[in-house]
Amino acid sequence: MTIFRGTVLDTPDGTAPGGIRLRSETDAALVVVDGRITARGPFAETLRAHPGHDVVDLRGGLILPGLVDTHVHYPQVRVIGALGLPLLQWLDEWALPEEARLESTDYARAVAEEFVRGLVSAGTTTALVFGSHFAAAVDVLFETAARSGLRVTAGLVASDRSLPEPLLTTPDRFYDESTALAERWHGVGRTRYAVTPRFSYSASDEMLDACASVLKDVDGAWFTSHVNENVAEVTAVAQLFAAAEHYVGTYDRHGLLGSRAVLAHNVHATDPELDLLAGRGASVSHCPTSNASLGSGMFPMRRHVGQGVRIALGSDVGAGTGFSMLKEALQAYLVQQLLGPDGLPLTAPDLLHLATRSGALALGLDDVGDLGVGKQFDAIWVRPAVGLPLDVGLRHAASPEDALAKTIALGGPADIAAVWVGGDRLTPP
Ligand code: GUN
Ligand code: ZN
Repeated sequence: MTIFRGTVLDTPDGTAPGGIRLRSETDAALVVVDGRITARGPFAETLRAHPGHDVVDLRGGLILPGLVDTHVHYPQVRVIGALGLPLLQWLDEWALPEEARLESTDYARAVAEEFVRGLVSAGTTTALVFGSHFAAAVDVLFETAARSGLRVTAGLVASDRSLPEPLLTTPDRFYDESTALAERWHGVGRTRYAVTPRFSYSASDEMLDACASVLKDVDGAWFTSHVNENVAEVTAVAQLFAAAEHYVGTYDRHGLLGSRAVLAHNVHATDPELDLLAGRGASVSHCPTSNASLGSGMFPMRRHVGQGVRIALGSDVGAGTGFSMLKEALQAYLVQQLLGPDGLPLTAPDLLHLATRSGALALGLDDVGDLGVGKQFDAIWVRPAVGLPLDVGLRHAASPEDALAKTIALGGPADIAAVWVGGDRLTPP
């Protein structure tokens, strides 16, 4: 049993941004047994009730729930920062040539380590990861993630058209490799399997049928892909799938959408698509730095929330500009501000919820995403170096909400002093 002492901020209530409550306790104690929080309260009182246990003193800075990234590409660590191109050209010039290099398992192993280090150092404790087109590279990702202690859901990426030849596969091969990977990793420790067609633009109906077969045969598997990211992409998908009502429909008519589905972007969603997503209980991963960097557009969050679509946040590394979910939260806020009357005004607690509890809910992890009794101790210690602007800001914060807003505005990987998952302290590989 360990007692963690410090200022704890989290957002246990609600499911969608807009009026989320911040729970804050100064000099609190979290009692952790076998990775789970069993008691929580004022430090002195809680210590009296649990005498003789180790105390980890995290005073100064903030204890927050571990950050949850619901959309991040493992093979793209080395292409972060390629600015200036829209989606399809960025894929051609940067992402896809790099992804082809993961055919070499040695190359993939090095990238997997860099990727896991990127997540841990940014304070991400749970991620839905877009894998590789190569089964051996996905195996290496699972191996590296399992060794790190992160909670990772990931899978083999499927494409059978529109991409460079080395990245293509067949529906049969995809089914066989996916089920073999799921057999090895789904439900093992903190890893789970996700069926992952890259996007409808690069998947035929036969491939999407194979995805449905894997989803059916791997009990409790997740589904993830991209949707409605960029206008040229949306137009191309409409031409490829003349029989589908819309982009969301290209997945839905294969039975791929349910409460275990997470679709990234959805910047250019129509109302019927939002209704369908809400009806299916599927989630949308909003990736704001990627949307800005590729010029994809401004995310209609107000319409998503208004129509009852579940949303969470994703970094979308490498189109996204880094692993920090604090930066994604800030960018999500900025975009809604820029949308004026069409935007959804977001508070700091709304943003923390989006970066933690919303992601846990999208991933079906009910015991993750806040630091209440009964939850896993997945946590980060935000502890900026003395004298830097965030340290100054935290020491002069007018309220816990203000401290949180300053953390979102100024915080980054350099300020994440420690990371725990299920009570285990993680160290980057
Ligand atoms: N759509 C299909 N592949 C990708 C990708 O790698 N990144 C982004 N942002 N969108 C995609
Ligand atoms: Zn993506």
